[in-house]
Amino acid sequence: MSNVPELVLETMKSAEARGFKLSCEETVGRLLAALASAVPPGGRVLELGTGAGVGAAWLASGLGHRSDATVLTLERDPELAATARELPWPEWVEVRVADVEKELPELGRFDLIFADAEGGKWSGLDLTVAALRPSGMLVVDDMDLSRYQSTEHRESVTRVRDSILSDPRLVAVDLPVSSGIMVATKRHD
Ligand SMILES: C[S@@+](CC[C@H](N)C(=O)[O-])C[C@H]1O[C@@H](n2cnc3c(N)ncnc32)[C@H](O)[C@@H]1O
Repeated sequence: MSNVPELVLETMKSAEARGFKLSCEETVGRLLAALASAVPPGGRVLELGTGAGVGAAWLASGLGHRSDATVLTLERDPELAATARELPWPEWVEVRVADVEKELPELGRFDLIFADAEGGKWSGLDLTVAALRPSGMLVVDDMDLSRYQSTEHRESVTRVRDSILSDPRLVAVDLPVSSGIMVATKRHD
């Protein structure tokens, strides 16, 4: 790994120390950073599932020194959220303890959503799509079927892929790289 932002390196170390193994892979992280850097002035970025904070760190690194945009990341496990909060975030990053499916309808709309929790992705995907602004982008990872052994998991991946590709509100692409990434843009209403 080269040119990994300092904040990302710190979150990776923290994840390793905690034994957290579900952080996004580097290619996914770099995509998140690239898309975060493109949100419009005043942009709102949302991550579903903070984990140890690696994805949020990539998102924040993409925004760099911008202070006009915000990153909100939701995590239902209070201990994981507390671990993530210990990192040196810019003040416009908020780590919030919340269940995605309960919280999402109250949050308004976002320019970029990284859906990386059970809630809002494997279930409640519709809430996530509804929370995208027109031109807003959705990123989901872990869509590589070959990484799943169980029929149940493979069916879930297939269902979510089909749902994203056939949703008339979205323009989507399936990227067979890293853990399997899908990116979708919300059409204008
Ligand atoms: C794959 S990990 C997130 C990794 C993180 N996005 C990253 O890239 O480093 C998924 C996280 O989602 C959390 N989670 C699962 N279901 C959730 C829900 N309904 N609401 C909030 N968090 C949830 C889990 O506790 C776990 O920490």
